[in-house]
Amino acid sequence: MRIDILTILPGLIESFFRHSIINRAMEKRVAEIHLHDIRDYAKGKHRQVDDYAFSGDAGMVMMIEPIDRAIQALKKERDYDEVIYPTPDAKPYTQKTANKLSTLKNIIILCGHYKGVDQRVRDHLVTCEISIGDYVITGGELAAAVITDSVVRLLPGAISDETSALTDSFQDNLLSPPVYTRPAEYKGWKVPDILLSGNREEIFKWKHEQAVKITNKLRPGLLDEEETKDKTL
Ligand code: ADE
Repeated sequence: MRIDILTILPGLIESFFRHSIINRAMEKRVAEIHLHDIRDYAKGKHRQVDDYAFSGDAGMVMMIEPIDRAIQALKKERDYDEVIYPTPDAKPYTQKTANKLSTLKNIIILCGHYKGVDQRVRDHLVTCEISIGDYVITGGELAAAVITDSVVRLLPGAISDETSALTDSFQDNLLSPPVYTRPAEYKGWKVPDILLSGNREEIFKWKHEQAVKITNKLRPGLLDEEETKDKTL
């Protein structure tokens, strides 16, 4: 899978991609991630990428021309399945969307800044808008990093334990059950006996019960959407 990220601050997320699971995925050629500076597509001595809003509102708006030039330059090289724009005024991002994106071949993620991008970018160039949560962050870079990480880790070969992405929280609309490792007792705090029993069937049942209990407590709404809860735990 190839992900092209358009940003005015490539340095902001460059190191993240070099220090995560994504780096390993790139080394293994499971994923290709390319950062592009939108300023490289801007005109003039000042390489201007933003301007005042016509409405007279405070805050700068990212101009359409450099963004369009950047997107067209990429589209000349290959076809893209989606042009994604992370923005707080969009539908919330879910594991389901991450799963869907992980099946695509080439995507572009456009990082916004300031007051956002000229609406014509969203109307004519963007094909998919994603909010990573009901809060506002300064730019789209961190959202792009979140989306990229959540998608790349799903690609076959990206993480060493192939099954572990399937047992993540949300993969079956359940939060994850608790996990433990050695020692079996620390300061008198014990690992549940069942996990030491070696009885795989009972452990499987316990994990599922715990997942349902935690989901009920913290995110009961998820259980309403539950369809496949017995499949992956
Ligand atoms: N840019 C700023 N805030 C955002 C959010 N919550 N989700 C996606 N992109 C954003």
